[in-house]
Amino acid sequence: MAILHGLSPAPVERSRVLEIACYDGANLIPMAYAIPASEFVGFDLAGAPIERGQSRVRELGLNNVRLFQGDVLEVGAEMGRFDYIIAHGIYAWAPEPVRDRVLGLCSELLTEHGIAFVSYNAMPAGYMRLMLRDMMLFRTQDSEDSLKRVEEAMAFLRLVCESRPEKDPLRSMLDAQLKRMNKPDLGLVRHDEMSDAYQPVYFMELARHAERHGLQYLCESVLPPPPDPAYRAEIDQAVESAAGGDFLRKEQLLDFLRMRAYRETLLCRKERVVRRDFPAESFRHLLFASQTAQAEGEKPSATAFVLPGGIKMESNHAGATALLRELGKAWPYALSWESLEPHLAGTGLTLDAQGVALLVRLAISRMIEFRTWNPSLARTIPERPKASVVSRLEAHTRDRCTSLLHLLVSLDDAKVKILLKLLDGTRTRAELAKDMAAEFPDAPFADLEEGIADALVNMQRSGILEG
Ligand SMILES: C[S@@+](CC[C@H](N)C(=O)[O-])C[C@H]1O[C@@H](n2cnc3c(N)ncnc32)[C@H](O)[C@@H]1O
Repeated sequence: MAILHGLSPAPVERSRVLEIACYDGANLIPMAYAIPASEFVGFDLAGAPIERGQSRVRELGLNNVRLFQGDVLEVGAEMGRFDYIIAHGIYAWAPEPVRDRVLGLCSELLTEHGIAFVSYNAMPAGYMRLMLRDMMLFRTQDSEDSLKRVEEAMAFLRLVCESRPEKDPLRSMLDAQLKRMNKPDLGLVRHDEMSDAYQPVYFMELARHAERHGLQYLCESVLPPPPDPAYRAEIDQAVESAAGGDFLRKEQLLDFLRMRAYRETLLCRKERVVRRDFPAESFRHLLFASQTAQAEGEKPSATAFVLPGGIKMESNHAGATALLRELGKAWPYALSWESLEPHLAGTGLTLDAQGVALLVRLAISRMIEFRTWNPSLARTIPERPKASVVSRLEAHTRDRCTSLLHLLVSLDDAKVKILLKLLDGTRTRAELAKDMAAEFPDAPFADLEEGIADALVNMQRSGILEG
């Protein structure tokens, strides 16, 4: 996102990264594994999760990541400076001095071209959550702090909801909030809805707070998804004129239209010149990827592309179709503009204003992704497939794992989980089938072989297999 906005952040594969309040390092450790020449530091006030993380680091034999127990109010310049700083889930969930120090640390420790990521609960939809939170806390003020207390609070909210007439708008709102809170882990509900500090902020407050620390708002961590009001010309014009040309004011006004509840904001030093017109030269510094596959179109003149979730796009633009076809073949690998150019020759797609607008539209609709670096991915399924060690270790303790692309992949299927643990790069497919048959003696052998073939394709495409 920084490159798209004309900045020159440090290359991901040779950078220093700090995570403030990193918990057990579940975010940092897979990054440290996938990006071996970068250095990662994380700290958290909570000792037990840090110890768990440290033992995972030892298990993996990683020497480019350091986790330690520390208080944001006490750490500082001794950690050195960082190209990227991550503060996820702390700014709006901590008391004022901690919040201020989070941005203070970003200011003190970011390199000149550094980028900070700060997530927070946002207004105005924070009011809705505050209303429910107050009810939950009031109802359970005399209960002991346990998961039973969370159950009591949720049951009370359901009572409030069901006490309202069927088609009542407030009932629909409460119902939607209850659905949002319906998480498998009540501990998460306790943390997200009932923890001691819950301080949603207006975007403008965060932006002003950042300014007081010599930082400026860069952008959100992803481009807004397609239904965003910013993409509707008549709304955009009305908001633009209400904002009187002030970009930050416009973002805040848009948050009212979006009924924004949460933000993941990127900050940079105030001296950086942020380009909001996505300069063409930036695209030469990006890589492009797409997991679309070609599909049956409705119109004979158009080519259709579908994403795994089923989102479909038809296009008769020669450049867009050539681009998606090339990227689809390379997935999960990302390609540079330079390497794409020969395939786009004669299609009319170049990095002029129209071409840039098309690339941005494709990215907004999630048909393409912008990246800056490729991890060591298997581009085809190797003879003896090897899954990342991080993903294999994660498979021992939970039902999902982190890919080399830093995405969570579900491991709901017991067979896939066992297969993943066997993928240490020593077994051929035949050997995998034999070992799987020993694990699942009742399963027909042909079904196991077929299941292995499908799972390997999925793992290679999800970026779990190493190249
Ligand atoms: C919501 S959790 C987020 C953890 C992690 N960033 C994540 O996204 O999973 C908030 C974390 O902030 C940590 N924390 C709270 N106050 C802190 C402080 N003063 N210094 C360091 N960490 C703190 C807590 O221990 C907890 O791990």
